Amino acid sequence: MTTVGVIGLGYVGLTLAVALAKKGLTVHGVDTSPAVLEALGQGRAHLFEPGVEGGLRAFLGERIHVAPALPAGGVDAAVICVSTPVAPDTHAPQLDNLRLAARHVAERSGPDTLVIVRSTVPVGATRSVVLPELVACWGRARLAFAPERTIQGQALRELEELPQVVGGVDAESREAASALFSRLARRVVPVATLETAELVKLVNNAHTDVIYSFGNEVALLAQRWGLDPLEVIRAANVEYPRPDLARPGFVGGGCLSKDPYILISAARGAGYTPWLVGQARALNERLPLEVAERLIALIRETRGSTEGARLCVLGWAYKGWPPTDDMRGAPIASMLPLLRAAGLSLRGHDFLVAADTLRGLGAEPVTPEAGFAGADAVLLTSNHPEYASLDLTRLLATLRRPAVLYDAWRVLDEDVVRSAGVRYAGIGYG
Ligand SMILES: NC(=O)c1ccc[n+]([C@@H]2O[C@H](COP(=O)([O-])OP(=O)(O)OC[C@H]3O[C@@H](n4cnc5c(N)ncnc54)[C@H](O)[C@@H]3O)[C@@H](O)[C@H]2O)c1
Repeated sequence: MTTVGVIGLGYVGLTLAVALAKKGLTVHGVDTSPAVLEALGQGRAHLFEPGVEGGLRAFLGERIHVAPALPAGGVDAAVICVSTPVAPDTHAPQLDNLRLAARHVAERSGPDTLVIVRSTVPVGATRSVVLPELVACWGRARLAFAPERTIQGQALRELEELPQVVGGVDAESREAASALFSRLARRVVPVATLETAELVKLVNNAHTDVIYSFGNEVALLAQRWGLDPLEVIRAANVEYPRPDLARPGFVGGGCLSKDPYILISAARGAGYTPWLVGQARALNERLPLEVAERLIALIRETRGSTEGARLCVLGWAYKGWPPTDDMRGAPIASMLPLLRAAGLSLRGHDFLVAADTLRGLGAEPVTPEAGFAGADAVLLTSNHPEYASLDLTRLLATLRRPAVLYDAWRVLDEDVVRSAGVRYAGIGYG
């Protein structure tokens, strides 16, 4: 196998394209977005993922080709990495991109092309959505599902380090897909069916969501007794040989904010409504609102009114570690309507999210220093490590008084904040 088509060049597809090119394969990347094609054609990554832009530049025009369509002569394998969102209102999975990508592969390749679905899909969708498109054109198909499970911000490394789970429509497809992924990763985990591999992806992410939600539940519980949730969690975990409690924190991102819904929808289709998955998601989605309401109440308590108060929000991406520019499922997005309704004037800083994005969301982009200067409140929503190394004493001195600092990840020095005469709070705390 020498040529691989990658359909959909976002966080998953572009990273995979670079990883495959590094292993000596020729990659034909395809995307429907003119903006994506234009950026990539100039050797510019349209997203932040360490190592990806360098890899793109190294191989563009040689081992990586970017175009709106696969080459007319087809490819040996085609990996479908298109977005599979859920509807904003109903959370129903939207599979049009998947269907169109499969149709495109069917039109531009042939029955010997190995097709691998990498997008996250409801259990059964590879068989019910992709397979019919291929069979309609080719009469038969070599088809596999191999979920993407890397973490954004360390994806190139994890593509090699994480075991690759592979299911096939038949044994030959599974083995061919396993052979491709074993050129990339140290370990391949073959599973019995397409559906097994689809479910692996969904339960991995739903499990993460459930585990984190319980840390958040503990925080909201501890708050009711005025206890420090971190003290409770740390003490509970000390040399306790049962599963650890997670620290409280926001749970967002493109995957965790939708995959539990994809799982619920698929399960309902199979006659089962999960008990935990929806509750965990609801709690994790409630958390940013809880934080915004608490922050607004604290500003009102300290200042008398929130109208016109200046709030600096540090960290707009959905997470700070590993760093990303991705705002899908970012906690700040659901907080903004409450913050605006309270009449707060917003400034914002993020190490990777573009200034224009912050402006578009109604915040004046600033440095952390300018954000603190004259602010009535600071909200740290991100665990980006550089926030923990800010010169806090100097910055706190520039706040207006009275002031509030809401440290959602508890990464700043609480004693320094309090001794500067600033009110300190965190999730379920203060
Ligand atoms: N981002 C992650 O870390 C991650 C991790 C695991 C799984 N996934 C899953 O992988 C898939 C892709 O995620 P992503 O984060 O890369 O999304 P993304 O939005 O960053 O990229 C998807 C790309 O697909 C393109 N596209 C859409 N329809 C197309 C079509 N018919 N033909 C060609 N291109 C098309 C879009 O223009 C976009 O550039 C999703 O199913 C997601 O759930 C993502």
